[in-house]
Amino acid sequence: MMWGRRPSLPALVAVLVLVGSCCCCCCSAETSESPAAAAADELSGGGGRRRARGVGDGAHHHPHVRRQRGRRYNGSNSVMFRKQLLGAINGKELAVEQREQMFEIMSAMCMDGTPPAYNLDPGSGAGSRSWIVNLEGGAWCNSVKTCRLSKGTGRGSSDHMEKEIAFTGIMSSSRAVNPDFYNWNRVKIRYCDGGSFAGDAYNKEAGIYFRGQRIWNAVIKHLLSIGMASADQVLLTGCSSGGLAVILHCDQLRAFFPPAAGGRQTTVKCLSDGGLYFDAVDISGGRSLRSYFGDIVALQGIPQSLPGSCTAHLDATSCFFPQNIINDMKTPLFILNAAYDAIQISLSLAPDRADPSGSWRTCKSNRSACNASQMNFLQGFRDQMVSSVQGFSQSRSKGLFISSCFAHCQSEQLGTWNNVPGRSPIIQNKGIAKSVGDWYYNRAEVKAVDCRYPCDKTCHHIM
Ligand SMILES: *[C@@H]1O[C@H](CO)[C@@H](O)[C@H](O)[C@H]1NC(C)=O
Ligand SMILES: *[C@@H]1O[C@H](CO)[C@@H](O)[C@H](O)[C@H]1NC(C)=O
Ligand SMILES: *[C@@H]1O[C@H](CO)[C@@H](O)[C@H](O)[C@H]1NC(C)=O
Repeated sequence: MMWGRRPSLPALVAVLVLVGSCCCCCCSAETSESPAAAAADELSGGGGRRRARGVGDGAHHHPHVRRQRGRRYNGSNSVMFRKQLLGAINGKELAVEQREQMFEIMSAMCMDGTPPAYNLDPGSGAGSRSWIVNLEGGAWCNSVKTCRLSKGTGRGSSDHMEKEIAFTGIMSSSRAVNPDFYNWNRVKIRYCDGGSFAGDAYNKEAGIYFRGQRIWNAVIKHLLSIGMASADQVLLTGCSSGGLAVILHCDQLRAFFPPAAGGRQTTVKCLSDGGLYFDAVDISGGRSLRSYFGDIVALQGIPQSLPGSCTAHLDATSCFFPQNIINDMKTPLFILNAAYDAIQISLSLAPDRADPSGSWRTCKSNRSACNASQMNFLQGFRDQMVSSVQGFSQSRSKGLFISSCFAHCQSEQLGTWNNVPGRSPIIQNKGIAKSVGDWYYNRAEVKAVDCRYPCDKTCHHIM
């Protein structure tokens, strides 16, 4: 199952970087440029200033190339290269930490064993010491059967990823679209583990790796090594399964930035978009999403990645639900969600197995086709979602934008992340980009919860 719509408007693109075939020590800058810019430059095939280019200019020289001690390797060689690197380790005396670091990098892999990857558009000017780390979304897989299908796609293998992707919305380098973050270093960590970057297991029969948590660790350490360690400010973002991953990893990210000796502290904050998956009763009286999440947690070895503050008193599946985690998070979090999340309606409330007669089929793809009792059910869901963030919203450092839209993922699309009046959903006279920026920079407290549908006329409904 995949959702996540393609951005339809042109933006800058960023080229894929494979991690793990290139040990952190080898990626250091060889020029006086900032490390991130240098790393980006080498990926562009070298020579250029910035790697991000317009979609239409046909710049596709070396989309899969990365450097290791001055030589270039193609991504298709990454598995072979790993073997060489492991051979080199076996033959040499390495410090224990080096061995551990190598192991950590080499064991971070997509479902099919290929290296994890990210796309980067380097920051500039005042933004060059600020980083957005975006965790790519794209559903989950909950069984050997469905994971096997993902394994042969870009959601399970870096061999099948698009090498260049558009950066839009909060990832955009356009000042007009994205005034608060446009010049930051912007990284999208690609999603190829099927478990919100939280799994750690291996399925021997099917030969499928579930190494999301190792991907997370390896890529974050790699980003630290290319410049993020000296960041002044960092924002972790992601949408859908990536938005859930943000909630699961936000405090872990902050732990990578211990207070410096001189008292300097990197500001770390997190934005979860479309990630507030709710443990709700479905139309048949069951808990479809709970059973689905339970399968993912068990299959992918997720329990040990979940916050101990939650697993100390609840079962692992419960601790995969944001509602049971967000109140104990230490790091400032902004929750951006549609109260009538279109994916939750089809995945959690009215999935086919809860609707054998198909009476919800038209309603769940077209809100105007819902009858009064169906709409009433959806209003009940909205009210539950709103009350689930009540405790959370008491804290000053937390931000909230719960729109009354039938939508999903609002931060990465031009239509919804935009300061131009009339483009973004508006609550309390503010659109999404302004609300998130105000919260990040402490310009204002943002606790925006919209009135019930259909009162808001600024929505971009997708169903
Ligand atoms: C990379 O791939 C290209 C063709 O795709 C090939 O010509 C070149 O030899 C490869 N480079 C390495 C280092 O394997
Ligand atoms: C509304 O739809 C439900 C099915 O979800 C159906 O059981 C009910 O009878 C319908 N109500 C009306 C008034 O049509
Ligand atoms: C949605 O449902 C309404 C009411 O039944 C109908 O008039 C409209 O054509 C439907 N829209 C689509 C796109 O199917």
